[in-house]
Amino acid sequence: MRLNTGLVALGALSLPIASADYPTSGPDDNGLYWIHSEGLSAAFIAYGASISRLLINDQYGIQRDIVGGFDNASYYEIDQQHPHFGGVPGRYANRIQNSTFEIDGVTSHVDPNEHPTDAAPDGANTLHGGHDGWDFRNFTVVSHTNDSITFSIVDPDGKEGFPGEVVSYITYTLKDYTWDFKMVALATTKKTPIMLSSHTYWNLDGFANNETNTALNHTLYLPYSGQRVGVDNILIPTGDILANKQGSVNDFWSAPKQIGTSLNDPEAVNNCGLGCTGYDNCWIVNREAPYNWRDEGNFVARLHSPWSGIQVEVYTDQDAFQMYSCNGQNGTLTLKGTQGLHGDDAFPRTIPQYGCVVMEVEDWIDAINHPEWGRADKQIFGPGGDPYVLQASYVFSINATATP
Ligand SMILES: *[C@@H]1O[C@H](CO)[C@@H](O)[C@H](O)[C@H]1NC(C)=O
Ligand SMILES: *[C@@H]1O[C@H](CO)[C@@H](O)[C@H](O)[C@H]1NC(C)=O
Ligand SMILES: *[C@@H]1O[C@H](CO)[C@@H](O)[C@H](O)[C@H]1NC(C)=O
Ligand SMILES: *[C@@H]1O[C@H](CO)[C@@H](O)[C@H](O)[C@H]1NC(C)=O
Ligand SMILES: *[C@@H]1O[C@H](CO)[C@@H](O)[C@H](O)[C@H]1NC(C)=O
Ligand SMILES: *[C@@H]1O[C@H](CO)[C@@H](O)[C@H](O)[C@H]1NC(C)=O
Ligand SMILES: *[C@@H]1O[C@H](CO)[C@@H](O)[C@H](O)[C@H]1NC(C)=O
Ligand SMILES: *[C@@H]1O[C@H](CO)[C@@H](O)[C@H](O)[C@H]1NC(C)=O
Repeated sequence: MRLNTGLVALGALSLPIASADYPTSGPDDNGLYWIHSEGLSAAFIAYGASISRLLINDQYGIQRDIVGGFDNASYYEIDQQHPHFGGVPGRYANRIQNSTFEIDGVTSHVDPNEHPTDAAPDGANTLHGGHDGWDFRNFTVVSHTNDSITFSIVDPDGKEGFPGEVVSYITYTLKDYTWDFKMVALATTKKTPIMLSSHTYWNLDGFANNETNTALNHTLYLPYSGQRVGVDNILIPTGDILANKQGSVNDFWSAPKQIGTSLNDPEAVNNCGLGCTGYDNCWIVNREAPYNWRDEGNFVARLHSPWSGIQVEVYTDQDAFQMYSCNGQNGTLTLKGTQGLHGDDAFPRTIPQYGCVVMEVEDWIDAINHPEWGRADKQIFGPGGDPYVLQASYVFSINATATP
């Protein structure tokens, strides 16, 4: 019943809807739902509505699987070091300061799950929606065709401490070297914060680069991101919006730069939290209105690996971009059978530190605790109001340019 109500609302947004017109076939033996297009094949799982495979040929015509994940759907729930592997963090992505926020004078306390201290043994803050955030739950497959899949989730009132029920639909579509996604969420009973994203771990070499097992040679370009959100020692926004000075560690706007270029700069130390060298930061996307986010060349981020030649341009309607350089990976996550080098002792079949890049399109992080930023319309939703909508297009190509 709930599902049908939601689908009527979605009809207005012209999302694909399951019907007799769409052939629907089930998952393969590994629990993977495959979709295909010119140049790309991808597989998704119900757990977290996660992407589990993304196959594309490199510049030599060799197929690469360029996203992190596990070999089968059942293992995602079993593995204890859950890294939000390719899933949809929800209902509120990134961190919530002190696991607390206020809407219309009412304070909500949500499930703390990061940075335990003596004073706060469960955690000083909430990350990605709490212990049982959306990327720890199985979504329902609403429709599945040869090039598109739609998942849904109903997040009950009070779950992880969040007010009100949220009903959400996640649609992934492949079309001509492009991975499109559309995420819609309706707050059906009370006002509540909503912020979603796709938490995908990229290695554009399919972890098969025979010269380096890191992604530090990948080049990143963030043309609209002259600013970032200032954070404290545990990556909680302080309220400051900081300038990324040209030539500084966090400057990816003035020119494309390799992820590893600035890591020896003293300023890279503690850049991703106390004791952490690397990136786990939220860049602001400053585009001058009016603009069409879909227009060719208007990408907010471009990632390229000179080794495989694989390049991805990220187009989105969102106003912030989080990039994590896998500082916390330590070789305990196993590669999928579709990835890496086989039988070469110099390249263990695991993800090393800096072995991947996570790119998350989203809104300004923890803006629910910073009303002075004026983001409430983009983050607080309620019955009768506009739905939450996130759209993105990841456009793939081969760029044979060598390392600059
Ligand atoms: C699915 O899409 C792929 C790529 O576009 C195509 O080669 C294949 O024939 C399609 N399969 C079906 C059953 O339509
Ligand atoms: C699922 O994948 C994991 C990790 O690769 C593996 O250890 C496990 O044996 C697989 N299980 C099945 C049922 O294939
Ligand atoms: C979620 O899906 C996985 C894979 O299909 C399955 O192994 C697991 O039992 C499911 N978990 C729940 C709670 O339904
Ligand atoms: C590696 O990281 C995982 C996940 O954060 C953690 O559980 C594990 O203890 C770490 N192992 C080592 C040797 O640091
Ligand atoms: C953090 O939240 C707790 C309740 O969970 C509250 O008692 C405390 O005052 C809050 N601290 C800050 C600094 O807001
Ligand atoms: C490394 O990979 C490249 C690209 O696939 C290939 O041309 C080269 O032969 C490989 N080198 C070795 C030593 O395997
Ligand atoms: C990585 O980039 C450096 C320059 O920053 C270059 O010297 C090296 O050859 C590159 N390695 C690969 C595998 O592309
Ligand atoms: C190819 O990649 C290089 C290095 O990242 C970049 O400078 C260049 O602009 C890219 N070319 C295209 C057509 O995107």
